[in-house]
Amino acid sequence: MNFPKKDVVLVTGASGHIGRRIVDFLLDLESLHVVAGTRTPEKISDLEKRGAELRRIDFDDSASCDVAFQGVDRVVLVSTDAVSEPRRRIRQHRIAVEAAKKAGVKHLIYTSFAQSEAGSPIPLCADHYATEQALEASGLPYTALRNSLYAEAILRRIPTMLEATEVPGLLGAGGIAYITREDCARSAAAVASSEKPPLGPIELTGPEVIDEERLVALVGECIGRPLRFVPMQAAALTEYLVSTGVPLPRALAKVALDTAVATGSLGFTTSAVADLTGVPAMRVRDFLLSTDIGGTQT
Ligand SMILES: NC(=O)c1ccc[n+]([C@@H]2O[C@H](COP(=O)([O-])OP(=O)(O)OC[C@H]3O[C@@H](n4cnc5c(N)ncnc54)[C@H](OP(=O)(O)O)[C@@H]3O)[C@@H](O)[C@H]2O)c1
Repeated sequence: MNFPKKDVVLVTGASGHIGRRIVDFLLDLESLHVVAGTRTPEKISDLEKRGAELRRIDFDDSASCDVAFQGVDRVVLVSTDAVSEPRRRIRQHRIAVEAAKKAGVKHLIYTSFAQSEAGSPIPLCADHYATEQALEASGLPYTALRNSLYAEAILRRIPTMLEATEVPGLLGAGGIAYITREDCARSAAAVASSEKPPLGPIELTGPEVIDEERLVALVGECIGRPLRFVPMQAAALTEYLVSTGVPLPRALAKVALDTAVATGSLGFTTSAVADLTGVPAMRVRDFLLSTDIGGTQT
């Protein structure tokens, strides 16, 4: 008997946090042939056991992209973490977009970043904007899922907060609609498996805008001990972060991000996660409690 051929969807970056979860969600659906693309297939043999086909793909190696995209209907292109060398990530993404186009991919879903528009004050946006421009120019049908800042970014700050009663932050810092990686992955899988994927950029956010003062208070609630937010000027905040052991480049990047966020560019919410997945985006409080921070949750 001839069974109808399943559509083939390839997820790049399948050994990373988001890529792996997107593959998980797609495998659960059982309606697609799922290809997990990664530089390190040996790290994801468990996904092969669950039914994924593994293919090696490295955006620094265009030949690997040409081979990996053969016979693929849809691609979820997970943006890479190559941010330390200027323009490298843009080069990588362009190679992947060109290879997808050449291979006849019918739709590409890209994990972009919030408000990735020309002239965005947020340093991270330039690469994502350039990638979206490359997609637009390619003529390939695409969806750019503009993920807001990951809620997981908050966790990096928890060890310092656990030691403190006062938590310094940028004076006048704006709010952020933090989103969990889980919601980003579920949304990407929903688009990748949709009969008619939406086209163009979609801003994916958490359900609420949280400013620094509220965030500090929330962490206090979750660890069962009040914490006080102490607003600081940018230079003093950088100095403070370095004094707590944060390397200078990371401290500068954090303060630059906070300064850009102070313009309000991440202080908005959308209903896109619920619209795409049918499940509302997770609140930061619920996320923090689910991570067992401090071990004294209420
Ligand atoms: N919205 C936010 O707040 C936020 C924060 C941090 C990062 N991001 C972006 O979101 C992406 C996914 O997040 P994550 O948490 O899953 O990141 P992660 O766990 O750090 O994974 C990094 C990803 O980059 C891929 N990668 C690196 N070099 C590559 C190359 N040469 N060719 C192809 N893929 C390459 C890796 O794929 P393999 O190792 O499997 O090949 C992996 O999926 C990040 O890479 C970054 O672009 C967003």
